[in-house]
Amino acid sequence: MNSRVYVPPMAGVTDLVFRSIVRRIDPGCLMSTEMVSSRALLAKPESRIMDLGADEHPIGIQIFGHEPDVMAHAAQLAEKRGADFLDINMGCPVPKITKGKDGCALMKEPDLAREIIKTVKQSVKVPVTVKFRLGWDDENRNAVEFGEMAEEAGASLVTVHGRTRQQLYSGNADWQHIALVKAALSIPVFGNGDVFSPEAAMRMLEITGCDGVAVARGTLGNPWLIPAITRYLDRGILDEPPDNIERLIMAFWHCTGLIAYKGPRVGVNESRRHLTNYTKGISGAAPYRNRLTQIAGLKDAVQILSELALLVGGKEGLTRFLLAVEQDNLKNGEHPGERNGNGEGGIKTPVDIDAILPVAIP
Ligand SMILES: Cc1cc2nc3c(=O)[nH]c(=O)nc-3n(C[C@H](O)[C@H](O)[C@H](O)COP(=O)(O)O)c2cc1C
Repeated sequence: MNSRVYVPPMAGVTDLVFRSIVRRIDPGCLMSTEMVSSRALLAKPESRIMDLGADEHPIGIQIFGHEPDVMAHAAQLAEKRGADFLDINMGCPVPKITKGKDGCALMKEPDLAREIIKTVKQSVKVPVTVKFRLGWDDENRNAVEFGEMAEEAGASLVTVHGRTRQQLYSGNADWQHIALVKAALSIPVFGNGDVFSPEAAMRMLEITGCDGVAVARGTLGNPWLIPAITRYLDRGILDEPPDNIERLIMAFWHCTGLIAYKGPRVGVNESRRHLTNYTKGISGAAPYRNRLTQIAGLKDAVQILSELALLVGGKEGLTRFLLAVEQDNLKNGEHPGERNGNGEGGIKTPVDIDAILPVAIP
């Protein structure tokens, strides 16, 4: 856990598939699962949210809830599943979560928050970390005192999102206020909010003095951002961004990964927003993006991505893209030309690309 760059939890995003995509380009990246309800774990301890890859480290599992004993039980389950650290969510602003005293609502109940951290800390051997915001609203910016409480209760590290609960995602993250938290604590503090580039990561660290930076939305459709930030912080080198075909190939891998892991219905459904994220910033992609939001299966995705590959990379780009599809098929034990026909298990890619120029997918 020496990394200065961290992909914090994102519900509906940082699942096993997303994390494996990030680890394809940055194997040692510090990451966390999506948040998991401590109460739900009582009923379903085998929750797939806590599925970890074979060698997936370093990895945190994030739990939320407000009952110290239930949280301690959840923490033990998470530890058994292989978490390297246990993160407690005290920053989620979503009403469904806060109205049950969970997430950021705990910033209004520091005594209860303290008891949760202490109880969880006593129940596991792995480090316990806490993620929170600047406070509930502007009148109650208690992040400094809250951070001091977390440290005193046994947290090994805190991540601070520079917004209040009331702000949700509006306005700018207040990095100056994160600096106050950093200055007050002895444990490592990770600053969080609005880092979308290596330069912004550097600026955030300069302004806050933080030990590391947590980058969430910036990774959507752009997993390359994480190693790019690390290289910039460590060596001042700005990586070339991936070319458009590389983006399309990664989008395809993400989609096939989701379908393989979650099944065709959920996998395709969840792929739609990831696919559109990968194509953001590609000139001329808007109409294709629109179609990607409506795909019915992997076939549709490959069709649209192939057309985009042709648009942005010409014949050569399309060939590169289709070769990646072909390799994926072979890796999965399928041979070109042999296809199950339902469009979910893989895609037949004709070797003769001229044959696919008008219609990419059979
Ligand atoms: C789709 C989405 C889901 C999120 N889910 C969680 C979550 O499960 N737990 C959590 O602590 N924060 C969650 N967050 C907040 C992020 O971890 C992060 O604090 C926030 O997005 C600000 O960082 P950013 O500006 O780098 O995106 C979520 C954010 C997004 C966009």
